[in-house]
Amino acid sequence: MKIIKTPAQFKKVKKVTVTFLKNKTIGFVPTMGALHDGHLSLVRRSLKENDFTAVSIFVNPVQFNDKKDFNNYPNTLKQDIAKLKKANVDFLFLPRFKDIYPDKYRYRIIENSLSRLLCGAFRPGHFDGVLTIVMKLFNIIGADRAYFGEKDYQQYMLVKDMAEAFFHKTAVIGCPTAREKDGLAISSRNLRLSPEQRKIAPELYRILKSAKNEKEAVSLLRKKGFSPEYVEEMSGRRLAAAWLGKVRLIDNVKIR
Ligand code: PAF
Repeated sequence: MKIIKTPAQFKKVKKVTVTFLKNKTIGFVPTMGALHDGHLSLVRRSLKENDFTAVSIFVNPVQFNDKKDFNNYPNTLKQDIAKLKKANVDFLFLPRFKDIYPDKYRYRIIENSLSRLLCGAFRPGHFDGVLTIVMKLFNIIGADRAYFGEKDYQQYMLVKDMAEAFFHKTAVIGCPTAREKDGLAISSRNLRLSPEQRKIAPELYRILKSAKNEKEAVSLLRKKGFSPEYVEEMSGRRLAAAWLGKVRLIDNVKIR
């Protein structure tokens, strides 16, 4: 696995590998590190569907509306590198802030509709930061396909629509949410749950699947000890964010 630190280096390496070997495809999995089985399922899908796979690890400060959340974001780089090597990833892109934001975030991608709803209503500026970094990474990597988890369904929809709106060559592929045996969507935030909260957490998925409507889901979540931010239905999905103590969990299910 080649570890590449700047956009210019990535371009060079790509030229002498992917581009040199004509008609080869490259798949891309963007991450913020703290890699878990959810990320690895995206990596496996990319490896299966493409000749080369690139993964990026970059904790993007501009998508954190809460500075504390950014400062507390887990850093497990050593383990992440070992996992990606073991999975047979070809390229790891590991840039620094100044490599990615030479403009110091003067330029941004702003979506004016869906990004204001659901999670966007509670995390001002979050999706501007996500869309901007994803557009930058898409331009640097120039992948044929990019893989996003459906756990962050709103992010997946926004990125997919952005790629289409800007005629980007990268196809955005949504992948099913990876879950623990008890149904809890896998997330790096799960590690912050107390043993007691960890027992309650799978109720989010269970309630989203079984509630008659959004109102009932909110009331059932409250009964179990969650503080729901929202439960809403959109584009054939029921989506929710809810706090368990100081941990914010999100999930969504297909509506039957
Ligand atoms: O889903 C994430 O981990 C991030 O939002 C992403 C897509 C890597 C952009 O920083």
